[in-house]
Amino acid sequence: MLYRLARTGFFQLDAEKAHDLAIQNFKRFTGTPIDLFYRQQLPHRPVECMGITFRNPVGLAAGLDKNGECIEAFDAMGFGFVEVGTVTPRPQSGNDKPRLFRLIEAEGIINRMGFNNLGVDNLIDNIKKAKYDCVLGINIGKNKDTPIEKGTEDYLICMEKVYEYAGYIAVNISSPNTPGLRTLQYGEALDELLGALKEKQAELHEKHGKYVPVALKIAPDLTDDEISQICQSLIKFNIDGVIATNTTLDRTVVEGMKHSTEAGGLSGRPVQSRSTEVVRLLHKELGEQLPIIGVGGIDSFVAAKEKLMAGAKLVQVYTGFIYHGPGLVKDIVKNI
Ligand SMILES: Cc1cc2nc3c(=O)[nH]c(=O)nc-3n(C[C@H](O)[C@H](O)[C@H](O)COP(=O)(O)O)c2cc1C
Repeated sequence: MLYRLARTGFFQLDAEKAHDLAIQNFKRFTGTPIDLFYRQQLPHRPVECMGITFRNPVGLAAGLDKNGECIEAFDAMGFGFVEVGTVTPRPQSGNDKPRLFRLIEAEGIINRMGFNNLGVDNLIDNIKKAKYDCVLGINIGKNKDTPIEKGTEDYLICMEKVYEYAGYIAVNISSPNTPGLRTLQYGEALDELLGALKEKQAELHEKHGKYVPVALKIAPDLTDDEISQICQSLIKFNIDGVIATNTTLDRTVVEGMKHSTEAGGLSGRPVQSRSTEVVRLLHKELGEQLPIIGVGGIDSFVAAKEKLMAGAKLVQVYTGFIYHGPGLVKDIVKNI
């Protein structure tokens, strides 16, 4: 009820302005009596995944808190884990505005943010200051002006810097808004990246005396064959987990709606069934060899349950959270 009121106000604003205002407010109010409006006590529903115990299986997906400014706020809402980022080695401003659009009747969002973020060093400063109990995932990417052939170097720079602060590291090769990024999902480019990440992980494990799992985040716009090939690479390189999915380029479900022709990745309800299908295909190929984190269009307990039944061990929300607020997390955790 309260969230519906707040949402009405926020939805009067331009989508990115509303996002920035929400982040500022979470920063300002968490730890003050005002945070009672979103602080939630949720039942304990522990899940073991990638060698980590999560207090519940519901996480915040990457992209909402790119710079790790509000970890404490999302922790207070009861998320089992929060994935910050995508962060890049150097700060970058992202694409020109406007770059974020609500498709209200579809409960969807189109974004072409382009990894706007303040850089990995700033993220680490924020993490060091934060106090939280949930698991922290750190999602890493490459700068737009790093040539794709040198993309691996950017991932390794980020990995080296975030390793000791991360519960797990998510490797984002599936954003549609960084030119060429998705080509890293295929063949030799993928194998080269995964090999380098595993080597770096072993080196950092030794250095810090701590094993931090690495999960690969993939797009929904892959053929069954491509998914199968990715699975073979994940197994070959002993990757710790896979996150499915990022946003889609497919507009079939939203054709004719306001903003539907905007460039960028579509998220929310319109990507729900494809994301679940990708989770199912991954699970068919991978079995229990490595865990799947299901994300895409989760807007209710039922939608979360569908991802879990398709084979996901954990789930994440982004767009559903924008439309339904912290109550969505409570609803899923309570009923699981
Ligand atoms: C505005 C916006 C920004 C996003 N930024 C990122 C990002 O930086 N890195 C990433 O891996 N995914 C990003 N995503 C994708 C989400 O993490 C998620 O995978 C996708 O939106 C599907 O989930 P949803 O339907 O619950 O939103 C972003 C999504 C949105 C809507």
